[in-house]
Amino acid sequence: MKIIIKDNYDEVSLEAFRVMKEVLDAKKDAVLGLATGSTPIGLYQNMIKDHKENGTSYKDVKTFNLDEYVGIDRNHPESYYTFMHKNLFNEIDILEENVHLPYGNSKAECDAYEKSMEDVSVDIQVLGIGGNGHIGFNEPGTPFTETTHIVELQERTRKDNARFFNDNIDEVPTHAITMGIATIMKAKKVLLIATGENKADAVKAMIEDEPSVNCPASALQNHKDVVVILDKAAASKLK
Ligand code: F6R
Repeated sequence: MKIIIKDNYDEVSLEAFRVMKEVLDAKKDAVLGLATGSTPIGLYQNMIKDHKENGTSYKDVKTFNLDEYVGIDRNHPESYYTFMHKNLFNEIDILEENVHLPYGNSKAECDAYEKSMEDVSVDIQVLGIGGNGHIGFNEPGTPFTETTHIVELQERTRKDNARFFNDNIDEVPTHAITMGIATIMKAKKVLLIATGENKADAVKAMIEDEPSVNCPASALQNHKDVVVILDKAAASKLK
């Protein structure tokens, strides 16, 4: 793992953009694995700015998102489909047919999503990390061999995400569809971003503990090309 520590969120976002831009510059039809949540918003803003100011085109780019809630409509204001369109896709020239997010609640839908990714190959997978070490919605205890599957969200994750649902945990969906850890590990390059003190324990376990299902992100120790970009707070518990 290559670990880069920056002073603050803006610097982390800019560094993440540099890594992303290298991939886009090398391959104009790159396949991007994307994440939602608060962390990658700054990265996406840099991508939008670069598109608008420098004309970087996404016409040949394909995207595959990590996950989506189960039980809310795609057009729900807090669906990840809505999030991605609002925070990135509506602001760049990507073609709608090249945008992919998992959706549904059945094994057939999981298998179809997994298959659609096997037909291409993800060049760079963007990840955040949960306070409990989850990546995608692979909660602690998830075997590293899982591919796209349906998960029950842990209470901590639902609490963390209640801020998007009127601060009411009861409104947060109980289940999600997510790429599995085995799916994530197939990406050629992984870019994990984490900021804030509430990520410090998970970051430490991801980097310094033996890989274990207790910290799903620790599986990344076995990936050959991972860049981790942290702010000082998220890095504060590293030795
Ligand atoms: C989002 C995702 C999650 C988040 C994680 C951190 O698609 O898969 O694993 O990356 O929950 O979320 P934030 O960035 O909101 O702290």
